Formats: sequence, structure tokens, C-alpha cells
Amino acid sequence: MTLITDRRDLLIGLVSGSILSIVSTGALFYYFYGSTPDAPTTPLTTIPPARNSTVVEGVDGLIGNTPLMKIRSLSEATGCTILGKAEFMNPGGSSKDRVALNIIRSAEEQGILTPHKGSTVFEGTVGSTGISIAMIARAKGYKAWIVMPDDQAQEKYQLLEKLGAHVQKVRPVSIIDKNQFVNLARVQASRFGDDKRVGYFADQFENEANFYAHYQATGPEIYQQTQGGHLDALVLGAGTGGTLSGLTCYLKARVAHLKVFLADPQGSGLYNKVKYNTMYAPTEKEGTRRRHQVDTVVEGIGVNRLTRNFDLGRRLVDDAYRVTDEEAVKMSRFLVREDGLFLGSSSAVNCVAAVRVARQLGPGHVIVTLLNDSGQRHLTKFW
Ligand SMILES: Cc1ncc(COP(=O)(O)O)c(C=O)c1O
Repeated sequence: MTLITDRRDLLIGLVSGSILSIVSTGALFYYFYGSTPDAPTTPLTTIPPARNSTVVEGVDGLIGNTPLMKIRSLSEATGCTILGKAEFMNPGGSSKDRVALNIIRSAEEQGILTPHKGSTVFEGTVGSTGISIAMIARAKGYKAWIVMPDDQAQEKYQLLEKLGAHVQKVRPVSIIDKNQFVNLARVQASRFGDDKRVGYFADQFENEANFYAHYQATGPEIYQQTQGGHLDALVLGAGTGGTLSGLTCYLKARVAHLKVFLADPQGSGLYNKVKYNTMYAPTEKEGTRRRHQVDTVVEGIGVNRLTRNFDLGRRLVDDAYRVTDEEAVKMSRFLVREDGLFLGSSSAVNCVAAVRVARQLGPGHVIVTLLNDSGQRHLTKFW
């Protein structure tokens, strides 16, 4: 009798224990997920919707359509809406991806380049364009030969080599010297090739495919992202001038009141060209300084000659700001501290000038600038 009662008690205990355990587990899942674990209906966190839900084709499909982000700290500090076009999100890490792709595409369209025939794209560059050309050359079946001054951030050379480019480092000299990196790239391209293989000089400073990359894509993107051109000012630096001219020509034709400002690093002559229509004092003329033409830690912007791509839009530029290295360095540290935004040197120059424009225009204005590349590409120099 006792044995039977004990067994029955044990059975009741086991059954009720199991029921309790199932009920409590269910209750826990219900508490956390609002339903059963197989079919959650309430997400734990709010995930932003996918930015682009279409499948893209290859690496070149990743280029462009970069977000326009509100830089919170600068917007709060000035009372303006300061927006940065996040060009560092391109697959090659900078806005130069757009340029490299358009230069190679237009050479293909003109029948100059044909993939997989051993042709090589040559370019003289301080780095970013070279990295973009090296990446797209790989993706499209070409080789890349990059001529660069030897005083740029080390990670740029490393990246180029990993991308399979031939890297030729040269001493930084003036454009009037035949050993200047752009001049050398042009000569190397002309010497290369045979019946099958072509040596193509990309020529980002003079090639209008650079301008059109921004006129046909970056400009329309900004126009759409500002809900049909609701912006008051555009602020950016110029290296080749392709971005500045392309954006200015596209946006000024559509936004009547738009003001465009050049952000120029120390040592560059473009500030004077915009403000006084003269490039330099006689002592600063390109070729008169012995070593660095543009003496700044900032890479990618600032130049002392008038290039085709800058010339295309320069008459539409309203004013210019000179930005010192010290201001650019301070801005880059500020943006990391306040926004977690880790930028390269030319983007920092752009942001310094954007704040000056905001102060000049007063609160309530919308100001767009370019965030060309990330600080990761400037670890050994600017950072
Ligand atoms: C990082 C970076 N930012 C900005 C620029 C300037 O752009 P653009 O050549 O269109 O004037 C360059 C040009 O090389 C660059 O490398």
C-alpha cells in the first residue's frame, strides 16, 4: 500500500513538475519574445530598413549611391543642418571609385581598352585614385601601373600592392619636372604596349570623364537626397577639381540660390584663383619651390596649377576658405570624439570650411560637404 502511494506521489510529482517547467519556459519566451520562439512577432530591437534591397553586379555595382549623413555635432553647434556625403563607403574607400570606373568605362566605349588582352591603365596619383583604378582594373580584366610621390601615407602603397598594382614611387617634384609623378605616368603609358596590349593614361586631372562621374551621378544623388535640391551651400576642396566642378555645374543649374565654397589647404593656389583670379604670388609659382609644391599634411586636395577639371566649374564657385593643417587635425579629433566619425584629412578640411560657411550664413541653412575617405587611410600620416 505504502509502495503504491509512494509511486503515485512520484508520478504526480513528475507530471506536475514537467507541466510547470513547460509553462514557465513558455511564459519566459512569451515575456521576452511575445510569442513562441519559432514565430517571433515582436522584434527585440528596431532594425532600420535595408538601404538598397536590389542585388548589385560585381564590385563596380557597389560604387556610388552613398548615404548623405547629418553630422550631429556640427549641426547642433551651428544651428544649421550640416550634411556629409559618405563617400568613404565606396568599395575602394573613396569617391575616386566613381572616377576610376567612369574613366575606364569611357575608354572602353571609345574602343581604346578591351578587357583581358593584357592592357594596362597608368595613372599619376597621390593614392586614392590609384587604389580605385587598381581595384576596377582587377574587376574588369586590366593591369594597373601607379606612379606616386614617395611621401604619402604608407598604407596607400600597401593597399595598392595587395590589389596587384605595379607601384612606382618617385620623389615629389614640380609639374615642370619630367620626373613628376603625373608626367612619368603619361610617358610610361606611351611607351607601353604592342599590337594587342594598350598602355592607357587615365589622366584624372585633364580627363573629363572625371567631371562627368560627379555631374552624372554624385550631383543627382545629392539633389535627390536633399528632397529636390533643398540645400543652401556646397563646400569642398579640390585636387583635380572633378568633384567640385561636376557637383557645382549640376547643382547650380537646378538650385538657383545655391552658394558654392572652395575649402583649400595651406600652400595651395586655388584659394587665390577663386578669390582674386590669380593663382600665386610670383614666388609661389609652380616650379619655383624646390620640393613640396603644396606643403601640408592634407592629402588629395590643394594644387598650384589650373587643371581642366577644375577649370570646368571654377567660374561658378562663389568664395573660398583657407584651412590650416592645425584646424584640420583638430576637426578630425573632434568628430571622432563627438560623433564617432573617423575621417581622412581632406574630409576634415571640408568640415572646418562647412562650419565657417554655417557661421557666415547663420542658423537654419542646409550645408552639404563631402566625406571623401576614412581615417583608416591616413593612420601613418595625418592620424
Ligand atoms: C581623399 C581625397 N579627397 C578629395 C580629393 C579631391 O577630389 P577631386 O580630385 O575631385 O578634386 C582627392 C583627390 O585625389 C582625394 O584623394
